[in-house]
Amino acid sequence: MRLIVLGSGAGGGIPQWNANNAGSSRAFRGERASPRRTQASIAVSANGTDWLLVNASPDLRQQIIATRALHPQGSARRHSPIKAVVLTGADIDQIAGLLTMRERQAFALHATARVHETLRANAVFNVLADDVVARHAIAVGTPFSPLPGLAVTARTVPGKVALYLEKTDEPGLGSAPEDTIALTIEEPATGRRVLFAPSCARIDDAVRGLADGADVMLFDGTLFTDDEMIASGEGAKTSRRMGHAPVTGDGGSLDAFQGVANRRKLYIHINNTNPMAATDSAEHARVRAAGWEIAEDGMEIVL
Ligand code: MLT
Ligand code: MN
Repeated sequence: MRLIVLGSGAGGGIPQWNANNAGSSRAFRGERASPRRTQASIAVSANGTDWLLVNASPDLRQQIIATRALHPQGSARRHSPIKAVVLTGADIDQIAGLLTMRERQAFALHATARVHETLRANAVFNVLADDVVARHAIAVGTPFSPLPGLAVTARTVPGKVALYLEKTDEPGLGSAPEDTIALTIEEPATGRRVLFAPSCARIDDAVRGLADGADVMLFDGTLFTDDEMIASGEGAKTSRRMGHAPVTGDGGSLDAFQGVANRRKLYIHINNTNPMAATDSAEHARVRAAGWEIAEDGMEIVL
């Protein structure tokens, strides 16, 4: 199985168009220690020819251009190696790239019923015509095969409904359990297993169980501390309120996964306020010393 990190940044990316903080400014200037990060997405393939796209970020076009394996191949006038897309939620950084995938190219689109409803409710997504793009509802807990050689299982994890669908007068913001899913992506032929969880608000025993034994885990690394947005004056919400467990502090992912065995643990979906994004930071060193890696755009993992 091959996995390519197309984007390692959180919503907005690094740099983010209107962010003037240290992380963003350094990335705007092109400093090597502050690598640019497009919005979180991965591509996975069992045969190296047909690719599964996991989340369609607003940066998809740029990500495809940067990734040779995703360029059109062969002599047909229209072609894409991307044969299937799986969405883990309906946030803008998870779905906006679907609009890049217009032009009547066939692929299979897998998402929970709730996410499909959201896409149906937004007429702009009808550019993905039903006679070309097959929409499949994901049944949580039931493995499905979006491509030959890959088995995907979705599991609900603590989280919330997409930001623009929040109902602030309802309990839980109007969220349903299906609104945030993590994916186990397995290659049955080799037994290799990836856990992809770019959003997870709390790490409980069930989440630890999903991570346990995964060869590679790609986990929510949005914010370093719970009050990061508040302390920097860039937002009013805690990390948990945004649906993301912080990396450090009480219940932080760095501690919560201690003792869980993985060959590789990587943070993905990293926000421009997160100091660990800069490779010369103390926070970066701390995370690396704890056995974690920080995903970067273009990183390829062969399992
Ligand atoms: C998130 O992960 O919290 C969302 O991507 C936020 C957003 O849509 O900006
Ligand atoms: Mn996001």
